[in-house]
Amino acid sequence: MAKIAIIAGDGIGIDVTAEARKVLQEINRLESLQIELVDFDFGADYFLKTGIALPEGQIEIFRNEFDAILLGALGDPRIPDMAHGRGILLAMRFELDLFVNLRPVKLLHEKLCPLKNKTIRDVDFVVFRENTEGEYVGAGGFLKKNTADEIAVQEAVHTRKGVERIIRAAFEYAVEHKRPKVTMSDKSNVLRYGHDLWQRVFYAVGEEYPKIEKEHFYVDAMLMEMIRRPEHFQVIVTENMLGDIVTDVGAMLQGGLGMAASGNIHPGQTSLFEPVHGSAPAMAGKNIANPIAAILTAAMMLQHLNFASAAQRIENTVEAAILNHQVTQELGGSLGTREVGDYISSRL
Ligand code: IPM
Ligand code: MN
Repeated sequence: MAKIAIIAGDGIGIDVTAEARKVLQEINRLESLQIELVDFDFGADYFLKTGIALPEGQIEIFRNEFDAILLGALGDPRIPDMAHGRGILLAMRFELDLFVNLRPVKLLHEKLCPLKNKTIRDVDFVVFRENTEGEYVGAGGFLKKNTADEIAVQEAVHTRKGVERIIRAAFEYAVEHKRPKVTMSDKSNVLRYGHDLWQRVFYAVGEEYPKIEKEHFYVDAMLMEMIRRPEHFQVIVTENMLGDIVTDVGAMLQGGLGMAASGNIHPGQTSLFEPVHGSAPAMAGKNIANPIAAILTAAMMLQHLNFASAAQRIENTVEAAILNHQVTQELGGSLGTREVGDYISSRL
């Protein structure tokens, strides 16, 4: 049994979430999971109509009454500063303390990889992106705003507790999934305070895991290596903003943003699942967006809710869809968003 909140959000979030929802309903029926799906219309329209991103107390309701939240995408040209996005997505990450942003980079078929001669064995790692600190805390300010002498300060916050728990989560994952190496990435050659803390905590926590190899790359070098030899990586852990960048590059290795799933997780608590891609307003409502990232994200959510066989069944069916060319144009197929969802839900 599980109660799931669905926020389709904006743009193609609406298109792809409808398909993820379809797949969830079908797997619910097939496996008698007894999951209940409840839709919420938060997003740009709601924000423009009401002036608020989320109603007072909404996050408490999610925390107390729901097991997970499935989010489509946020972003709308009418709200250029993404105020509603911060008020929904970042607010949930912070207030639900979803400190693990888990983003698997897994190539499902070699034809989807933009790199030459790479197979599904070569692109198979996970990124643990810290999700509650760094530049994303929004600390800073302006001095002399809108003058020639303007000063803007944007601070990054790194706490020992925050760094420790994400690094430990990465090592625990490596142990549990029999991955022999954890790679930590930062920019500690330049950021001598915050990222120095990351260095020290990584090796200190690492001592608790003597059987796991510890490796470090500066982030610029690591992004290069991810392209040159993605097979080198198994588990990557990094801070919030670097993780944002690293996981977009990772998404390309697995066939583009339309393939990349993610979970914003606090182990044991209400967590939030969203595809890595944005709302792509130009593609919205045209039945052309690839729903696979959203469907794989729903599978990740089921995995988190301990419906492991249901999750596996969805992943296997997505692989079959790719193998059988039952995909959108961007992946070389000829189906629309809805038809991909229909195919996957009918083949579960
Ligand atoms: C992501 C997105 C968000 C982020 C934006 C929409 C705030 O890019 O989930 O990767 O920067 O974390
Ligand atoms: Mn991003």
